[in-house]
Amino acid sequence: MDAQQQSASLATPLGTVLLLLVAYPFARAIYNIYFHPLSNIPGPRIWSVTRLPFVRSLLQGTIVHDIQKLHRQYGPVLRIAPNEVTFAQPEAWDDIFRPPQGQLLKDPIWWKRGPKMAVSLISAIEPDEHARIRKALAPGFTPRALKSQEPFIQRYVTLLADRLRETVLAESSSHAEIDIGPWFNFATFDIFGDLGFGEPFDCLQDSRYHPWIALLFNSVKAAAFTSATRFYPAVEYILRRCIPPSLRKMQQDHFQQIVDKVHRRLNYEMERPDIMSHVIKDVEGLPIDVISTTFMILTTAGSETTATTLSGTMNYLIQHPDKLKVLADEVRKRFKTGSESDMTFDALRNIPYLNAVLSEGLRLCTPIPWILPRLVPLEGGTICGVFLPGGTPVSIQAYAMNRDPAYFHRADSFLPERWLPEASTDEKSPYFGDRWEAMQAFSLGARSCMGQNLAWAEMRLIMARLLWNFDFEAPEDKGKWLKWEDLRTFLLVEKRPINVRLKLRAD
Ligand code: HEM
Repeated sequence: MDAQQQSASLATPLGTVLLLLVAYPFARAIYNIYFHPLSNIPGPRIWSVTRLPFVRSLLQGTIVHDIQKLHRQYGPVLRIAPNEVTFAQPEAWDDIFRPPQGQLLKDPIWWKRGPKMAVSLISAIEPDEHARIRKALAPGFTPRALKSQEPFIQRYVTLLADRLRETVLAESSSHAEIDIGPWFNFATFDIFGDLGFGEPFDCLQDSRYHPWIALLFNSVKAAAFTSATRFYPAVEYILRRCIPPSLRKMQQDHFQQIVDKVHRRLNYEMERPDIMSHVIKDVEGLPIDVISTTFMILTTAGSETTATTLSGTMNYLIQHPDKLKVLADEVRKRFKTGSESDMTFDALRNIPYLNAVLSEGLRLCTPIPWILPRLVPLEGGTICGVFLPGGTPVSIQAYAMNRDPAYFHRADSFLPERWLPEASTDEKSPYFGDRWEAMQAFSLGARSCMGQNLAWAEMRLIMARLLWNFDFEAPEDKGKWLKWEDLRTFLLVEKRPINVRLKLRAD
């Protein structure tokens, strides 16, 4: 064989491979655009061709804003990847989370466990397994349980107010300028520490984050990155092998601290009416590793979420002093003749403007701005009137829906009045057409938030007692004001300083 023949015989297989490498993505793109079962769903062409724009947006932390823009352009039903659809339409809540034929299962790509990690309430996908864990926890979240937890919670809110007072008094001027965000986190993590493990994280006592919590913020971000790699199994495989042993050890130590806390709590001899007490009493019982993983995730689910809503609400309040004044007056008048200790969960439950402000905070600063995908059952299913093939991941864009002018009057503005009872009955109210049901900050159905009563009680109490004790203002320098819409999202919202001027209450 001469050299020319030799290179020709080599060129043929090589050429075929090269041709395939070029042709396959091209053919795939044509298929995804014109022949895929989702090809009739609106969305930008490039997002329908490849998962890459979705992943880039996820990694940049701009996913909820990017998708909000796309919803505005393409409508409430949106194809955001070759095989995935997302919704910003109120009917999607029931269709995805409460369909008559039974719940849609969580998409495992977001909930894959580490090789040695036990299942948890949040990562359990099979309905029976999930129901078993949820049932064991449920007695700790009833209104009765909440009542018996109230003294613990009041204690931390008192400590929060004391610490803030000390901070103001330590200043030579009449006010202190502080970042209030971490203070909300200190309070909510200490409260959950006590209710979950029988010991706080001592954030309020030490006026700083416990190292466990400081690490947690990075691990939530890392979880968003890890999930992104799962769309490319080869990349996931390589990256997993590249994780340095020191990082693995750090992860292990982080989890071990929770296991130790759980063990310490299980060894308590004294009865205390916290969330764990009900888990221990459960006759069928949960394995200890499931308790540990569940309480580890609950620590974030039960603290960071509430603190984010409080931070966002306070940020809007200081930038809208007229609304802040209405709220502070309402709280102060309501308890005028009594003392701060009259501010119980019961006494705070039905204060209309307080509830309206917090609802508006939940709408604009929803701590879970994007509810992670569920899968359409194998036989296919209809969501918002659109039939989708089995296995399609479907999700809800709470951020986009909550700020959609189709559902809320002046949707981007902070207007607590929209949640006052009269807004829904007075036809002349500009908010009469608001679709309250579009906002489901705690989700619906079998996997809805277990802690919503606790979250409401905490938020009302913290907000009311702070307004009872302090006057809040925005910093004079507008350069220090935070625009909530600028915050990035890595599964949860990545907060930035919320600078407030804090004074002891003047009147
Ligand atoms: C403003 C505060 C909060 C908001 C907006 C919120 C919102 C949510 C949402 C949207 C879900 C569903 C997530 C999904 O299905 O992917 C959820 C689940 C959950 N939340 Fe909350 N949450 C808050 C506070 C709390 C608190 C204080 C606790 C308890 C300590 C808690 C415990 C849970 C639990 C246990 C689940 C999982 C339920 C299950 O999978 O069965 N949350 N939360």
